[in-house]
Amino acid sequence: MGEFVQALGSIMCVVGARPNYMKMAPLIRSLRSHPDAPETVLVHTGQHYDVAMNDRLFADLKLRSPDVNLDVGSGTHAQQTSEVMRRFEPVVDTMQPSCVVVVGDVNSTLACSLVSVKKGIPVIHVEAGLRSFDRSMPEEINRLLTDQICDVLYTTEHSAAENLRREGISMQRVHFVGNVMIDSLMASLQHAVPLPAVLANYGIDASVFREQPTFGLITLHRPSNVDHRGSLEEVLTILAGVSRKLPLVWPLHPRTRASMERFSLWERLDQRRVVALPPQGYLEMLGLIKDAALVITDSGGIQEETTALGVPCLTMRENTERPITVEQGTNVLVGRDGGLILRHVDEILAGAGKRGRVPELWDGRASERIAAHLVPWLARRGESIYA
Ligand code: UD1
Repeated sequence: MGEFVQALGSIMCVVGARPNYMKMAPLIRSLRSHPDAPETVLVHTGQHYDVAMNDRLFADLKLRSPDVNLDVGSGTHAQQTSEVMRRFEPVVDTMQPSCVVVVGDVNSTLACSLVSVKKGIPVIHVEAGLRSFDRSMPEEINRLLTDQICDVLYTTEHSAAENLRREGISMQRVHFVGNVMIDSLMASLQHAVPLPAVLANYGIDASVFREQPTFGLITLHRPSNVDHRGSLEEVLTILAGVSRKLPLVWPLHPRTRASMERFSLWERLDQRRVVALPPQGYLEMLGLIKDAALVITDSGGIQEETTALGVPCLTMRENTERPITVEQGTNVLVGRDGGLILRHVDEILAGAGKRGRVPELWDGRASERIAAHLVPWLARRGESIYA
């Protein structure tokens, strides 16, 4: 089998933004340890570039430095997507990979899929089929379009296959393998950094956490929550109410920090009860999630990580593309309904929060299953091309 795979060229793995790294790291490790796999090449589009959003996570995840960095940076959706496409095309032309592997739903995921498929290079989508059914989310558009044009679709939960079937995608291309993000979580949990060590990095006075060691973790970055003054004010009012019940730790995404500044909202934060931090590394985030009494978030990945760790999660969105975290896990959708959120917080603090179970195949071995499927798939494809 090996000779056909080698003849086809490398497996080109693409990352662009922070949530991609924890999905790609275990996958690259599994591909590299598969005896028949061709070499892997890592391309970073540069959608995220700050040390805090990028380099620290690479180090934490032991993800090797990218072989190619496209350095696209920030921009409007059209600018960012088109710039990734423009810069990715010559890389594909030069390297002629056997396939391009994309993860998740960021602009880089769609941009690189589109370039590859038009060159006849198969696209492999990891975390396929998730749907929020909310087309105002840029990620939903990226998911729908990527899944339509890719060749192999690896899914994390059963609802994904149903979504793909409804969209007319052949079930022969769809494979339920579990959740690569949980592979990273399991591999790194023992190195998670606890809250006191995180705060010490910034010389922050942690007295409030000594008086009341239970804390809540906040992460918010969705445009619908943070891009408009009205919605961000609502969020801050809700967080003020929650912070009267337990102190909060809030690593601020650059998008959110920019809005806080643009709308002059810093004074709305009671900084004795809400500790705002810069974006955190992967091991710091794991430590904060693991030890939090509850998490309030609008992130997709954190809905999954809290479910895997059994930590109560209140998701400030009206929908989720990850319904298994609600059906089986600890996740509850609360939107920006302040009354509902405070009721859930009271329940959780009284020990009556939602309990869940870890979904099927979220067992730390999803990337092994992908490698075990993908390598022979490439070999069969190679045989048919060279036959
Ligand atoms: C992107 C993804 C989103 C993902 C999120 C995780 C899309 C459409 N969105 O959203 O799905 O959940 O990443 O973080 O792909 N910025 C920096 N430093 C950086 C990167 C960004 O300061 O390293 C700032 C820039 O001002 C930029 C803004 O953050 O304009 C937003 O970045 P962008 O990549 O456009 O979108 P995210 O909100 O990060």
